[in-house]
Amino acid sequence: MSSNELHQTAKQLVAEGKGILAADESTGTIKKRFDSIDLESTEDRRRAYREMLFTTAGAEEYISGVILFDETIRQSTSDGTPFPKLLADKGIIPGIKVDSGAKPLALAKGETITEGLDGLRDRLREYHELGARFAKWRATYSITDQLPSEYCIWTNAHALARYAALCQEAGLVPIVEPEVLQDGTHTIERSHHVTALVLDAVYRELFDQRVDVYGTLLKPNMVLSGYDASDRAGHDEIAEWTLRCLYKHVPSAVPGIVFLSGGQSDEDATANLNAMNARGPHPWQLSFSYGRALQAPAIKAWGGKDENVEAGQRAYYHRAKMNAAARTGSYAPEMEREAVAA
Ligand code: 13P
Repeated sequence: MSSNELHQTAKQLVAEGKGILAADESTGTIKKRFDSIDLESTEDRRRAYREMLFTTAGAEEYISGVILFDETIRQSTSDGTPFPKLLADKGIIPGIKVDSGAKPLALAKGETITEGLDGLRDRLREYHELGARFAKWRATYSITDQLPSEYCIWTNAHALARYAALCQEAGLVPIVEPEVLQDGTHTIERSHHVTALVLDAVYRELFDQRVDVYGTLLKPNMVLSGYDASDRAGHDEIAEWTLRCLYKHVPSAVPGIVFLSGGQSDEDATANLNAMNARGPHPWQLSFSYGRALQAPAIKAWGGKDENVEAGQRAYYHRAKMNAAARTGSYAPEMEREAVAA
């Protein structure tokens, strides 16, 4: 892929009114999601669940790309259509999670480094052959009074940039995901401070390692009060702190910012994105790449039962539609009732 094609793919992923479905849960993470509906996680049930999401009629109106896991990119629908082909035929770009997870960072208690660089060049070549046109790598940082350390911030930034450069070499758009975890009792000001330090390090490394940021997307956390903080900021405050951070620390050459949902409820994730877009226009597209916030109601409605596939699809379609509305700042909580009416 030429650098122009990378730019094109990045732009298509943040096309107006559309966002990304993160369906790249590792085997361990999807097991936790299935545990919540008392469903044993087998390879075929994981396949059936993803088939339900990917065959949802009309989802392509609101979904530009789907991030897959290694197992999923090799799976097919029950009638034998490989998932990447099914998605591409609908105009949805297949993507792939390529990190192998956040592991304890040596000599840094309570901190992690994301692994997966060994052999990455060969794996990217294979994923491209399987149809992937973009990739994802997630680094995580915890907030305490002392953390994250500079050591954790810079080692993860270095790894994110090495991943991004390899992706561009292989013709895949890298989604760069530095996630400052919002667990704890911290204030929104502290979340802003830490997110700013992390973003500065990430862009410094991306530039040093010659990554063309026009052919990347950023997938950050929103700037929130800690989930256990006593006095938590509301949608307007979240929008203001998050925008302040992004305006100062993300180059305008980046075509799009696609938020993760983290531990926010599905409706909060939509309302916060909406509040930011209502304050637009912005230098970058502000969109979503949600996992939990797009899937939570769908997995619940499905419950692992074939007879509930349509209900699961309705729930997923509805969340995709709500988040698409949040892309233009036109979402209103009253629209949630449509799901019941459908
Ligand atoms: P959540 O939206 O559930 O945070 O997932 C997004 C994701 O891809 C995390 O890596």
